[in-house]
Amino acid sequence: MHRSAEAMVAQDEQPRHAGEAIVAQEEQLRRAAEAFRVEWLGRKQGRLNEVSSRWLKAAPPEAKKLVGQRFNEFKAKLEDLVDAALDTHLDPSDAALRAQSIDITLPGTRRLIGAEHPITRTMNEIVQVFAALGYSVGVGPEVETDFYNFESMNFPPGHPARDTQDTLIIAGQERKPLRDRLLLRTHTSPVQMRTMELEPPPVRIVIPGKVHRNDAADATHSPIFHQVEGLCVDTHITFSDLKGTLDHAMKALFGSSVKTRFFPSFFPFTEPSADVQITCIFCGGKGCRKCKQSGWIELLGCGMVDPAVFAFAQEKQPAYDPKKISGFAFGMGVERIAMMKYGISEIGQFYSGDMRFLGQFA
Ligand code: PHE
Repeated sequence: MHRSAEAMVAQDEQPRHAGEAIVAQEEQLRRAAEAFRVEWLGRKQGRLNEVSSRWLKAAPPEAKKLVGQRFNEFKAKLEDLVDAALDTHLDPSDAALRAQSIDITLPGTRRLIGAEHPITRTMNEIVQVFAALGYSVGVGPEVETDFYNFESMNFPPGHPARDTQDTLIIAGQERKPLRDRLLLRTHTSPVQMRTMELEPPPVRIVIPGKVHRNDAADATHSPIFHQVEGLCVDTHITFSDLKGTLDHAMKALFGSSVKTRFFPSFFPFTEPSADVQITCIFCGGKGCRKCKQSGWIELLGCGMVDPAVFAFAQEKQPAYDPKKISGFAFGMGVERIAMMKYGISEIGQFYSGDMRFLGQFA
């Protein structure tokens, strides 16, 4: 250990010494050139003055022109020599050594340490809560087919429920059957079907990901945002399991004093469906501007998996027999949760790339 540390220092010192030697040599050369300049071109005692008075000034008139020319040539040559000497750098093959003449005592370059984006961080935190309950993590494509995004999630072609998710569609696919046409997924729910097609029950999975909707951006909406989907399928899964799981998750995310309540809602792929509300984390349930004086904030959608969804899954995995198994699903918006957790009022801050904003999460 000791020896190798010494060796490293020695190795580091070697090029440094070589570099210093070259710098010193150049300095010596420059001093010699300066001495030469004073000796020959010095204004008062320079030898050129002597040449001038002995030869140029003393020259007979008929020789003046020629002697003058020679004198000027000589002077120019001396000046060139001095200039060249002062300009001298050692052999360019030493450039490598010169480049290494570094001061190793200088402080190093400081590199910024990266940090997780608040959306990534929140998404991981949500995933972590479910991972601790035994859920695994799944992913699926952001460019999805009409079949997975809508049809298999029990939105039949032309059904008005499709209007609730204004969709960005890939152009020029009119010749394909509707179910194969590509779109930007409007929710992470299609990954429920992709997961069930690949694995028989039981399934416990969370799916974090990016989704797209043709919505106008405002303080709380963005056409691109993130969701975490959840799916649990097994024998004897009931609505109580759903309530208990989400109540636990909300307490894990927002603090143990948070309460939850379930309101009837509608999603084509769950029956019954519910919206989950939590007691307002800003006023603790008393009522404030943030919760519109209600004391409650709506946070996510959920419900029991609709048998029609299991019917689509059964085409690939017969074990999803709604007479034998049951399940629940939920989906939450990551931005909304992050905004609540960190007290952010403009969703656009997440995407602005402004270091003054992002640096607060480092
Ligand atoms: N996919 C729904 C949405 O984006 C949310 C949801 C997921 C609701 C799962 C119920 C079950 O609005």
